[in-house]
Amino acid sequence: MKPRILVGREVFPEVLARLGEHFEVDDNQVDVILGVEGLKARLADKAGALTAATDPVTAAVIAAAPKLKAVCNFAVGYNNIDLAACTSAGVMATNTPGVLDDTTADLAWALLMATARRLPAAERWLRNGEWKGWQFIQWLGTDVHHATLGILGMGRIGQALARRALGFDMKVVYHNRTRLPDDDEAACRARWVEKDALLRESDFLVLLLPYSPATHHTIGVAELALMKPTAHLINVARGGIVDDEALISALRQRRLCGAGLDVFEGEPKFNPGFLELDNVALTPHIGSSSHATRMAMAMRAADNLIAALAGRRPPDLLNPEVLK
Ligand code: GLV
Repeated sequence: MKPRILVGREVFPEVLARLGEHFEVDDNQVDVILGVEGLKARLADKAGALTAATDPVTAAVIAAAPKLKAVCNFAVGYNNIDLAACTSAGVMATNTPGVLDDTTADLAWALLMATARRLPAAERWLRNGEWKGWQFIQWLGTDVHHATLGILGMGRIGQALARRALGFDMKVVYHNRTRLPDDDEAACRARWVEKDALLRESDFLVLLLPYSPATHHTIGVAELALMKPTAHLINVARGGIVDDEALISALRQRRLCGAGLDVFEGEPKFNPGFLELDNVALTPHIGSSSHATRMAMAMRAADNLIAALAGRRPPDLLNPEVLK
């Protein structure tokens, strides 16, 4: 008999077909949010799960799933999974690193350009029929070329972003707990600086940190106060890394020039204060959302699950301690 698995959110039919070769699949093509209670009920008899960042794999969910051997997230971030609970229950957990770096860096770049050149507000103005004539002094934005790009969290996506900045002749500075090897720094012409220096020097500060209690409100009142009033903040990482209330207040008072945001505290709800601002570009958590990349992410998660339930080490295992 094939092992039974759950797929937490809607995925492409090709992914279900691949999973169906190995497993008896309980899918969620109607795409309801299962939440803790839904996951507890649906995982009670499952050996594995393919989960999204919206599926809360908490200790209680793990406890309610005695047959569970592997939870494979189709996301690079895995703050939705209680990794310690997985490990103590002997459940393997995996994510999808590497397949979404360029797509997410592209979206960060799009938001950077959008906030720099005020695209959302200018388009709204045009659509509202307010364009009565061309003016020399109209919709003035910020130059991206030759400006300083700051990157907080310099993993694969950060380095992909830094490489994009080369074409715009930008100066690139970054802060990360560990410095990149010299060769990697040279490849993206990026210089490590202290966090405060990063905040002070950046014309465009892009956040690419993983979310955890340790990174909660990494950017709050004090950090925003260090930034230039001409600077722009871009967050394509996770809501909660920024104190949204503090950001809204800085943007409202023009203590910060603009922001490009793909993620929010408490999404899909978010602070309505953002909607009153004309100096923000807002997108609904679509960093990795190209067809090719979402397919690659789901297939990668499927590969992880297939390996895990066949007794092999999944390629993206987050808690190798479970194998001991
Ligand atoms: C998306 O947000 C991801 O973590 O992959």
